[in-house]
Amino acid sequence: MNHPEAIAPIEPPCNEAVAPTLRRAAGDCRCADSDALRTASAVVQGMQEQMVHLARVATLGTLAASIAHEIRQPLTAIRLEAYAIQHWMKRCPGVADPVTQQVVQEVAEGVRRIQEQSERAEQVIHSLRAMMRSEPNKPQAFTLAQAVRDVMPLLEGRLKDGGIALRIDVDETLPPLHGDSVQIQQVLLNLVLNAIEARKEDCAELPLVELRARRVEPAMLRVEVIDNGGGIAPDQLARIFQPFVSTKGEGMGIGLAICRSIVELHGGSIRAASSEGRTTVTFTLPLQAT
Ligand SMILES: Nc1ncnc2c1ncn2[C@@H]1O[C@H](COP(=O)(O)OP(=O)(O)OP(=O)(O)O)[C@@H](O)[C@H]1O
Ligand SMILES: [Mg+2]
Repeated sequence: MNHPEAIAPIEPPCNEAVAPTLRRAAGDCRCADSDALRTASAVVQGMQEQMVHLARVATLGTLAASIAHEIRQPLTAIRLEAYAIQHWMKRCPGVADPVTQQVVQEVAEGVRRIQEQSERAEQVIHSLRAMMRSEPNKPQAFTLAQAVRDVMPLLEGRLKDGGIALRIDVDETLPPLHGDSVQIQQVLLNLVLNAIEARKEDCAELPLVELRARRVEPAMLRVEVIDNGGGIAPDQLARIFQPFVSTKGEGMGIGLAICRSIVELHGGSIRAASSEGRTTVTFTLPLQAT
């Protein structure tokens, strides 16, 4: 006879610490059911591995914040030096020799690219640092369009690597939202990353992610993240917002659970639908009265 409930409530601080408790629990109910013990032990071990992974990611997060800080200074110096070179070049007297003219033009173009790329890198660092701030932001008014702009530098690289097109269709005239804009950026980031990670290897059509935002009811915003990736199996759909549900080797399965908490904390709701190679995750948020 199985008594799984006798071992269900065990907390998983450490496998060695838990094993005697499991054995005692099994002994207590006088049914040393080895299958139940093995199952419980596997669950505990799985949770323990997830905790170790979470701790590792948290440590890397702290490190990333300080690396971002260290990188920002030399990046700013590179950008300023590029400006200075441009300035000096403008003061140079013109040259008649066509070869020298060509070289000067190429140098000017190279300097412009240095500037452009260092500005881009600075934007990535800026978005990263904003996301990593540990103290909660004071609730304030912000627009979804601004939140999308702030999070984009963190997504561009992944989109480019995957050869994925991003179509943004956000009504710029929407009234503001109220709350923690960094948390809403986190929702956008998680949803677009999921859409990117869903990309099919053998995709016949162009891999595409769409981000749409519309006003629905008089004072509600509806945001949709749509992709044409691998889709979600019907039996998985109901579970994907639960923590630690993942079909990815490297996934922790917490992205959507976090999205749901954030959206609900802001007075909205979130759902997902998937059929015929099209997955849509939709969330709503209340708009501020204007
Ligand atoms: N757009 C999508 N297309 C296909 N499957 C998806 C999509 N979004 C979510 N899923 C499924 O839902 C699961 C849970 O997503 P969730 O974001 O919570 O975790 P994850 O992406 O696996 O890991 P992480 O914690 O790193 O985000 C995913 O593993 C995947 O199976
Ligand atoms: Mg995810």
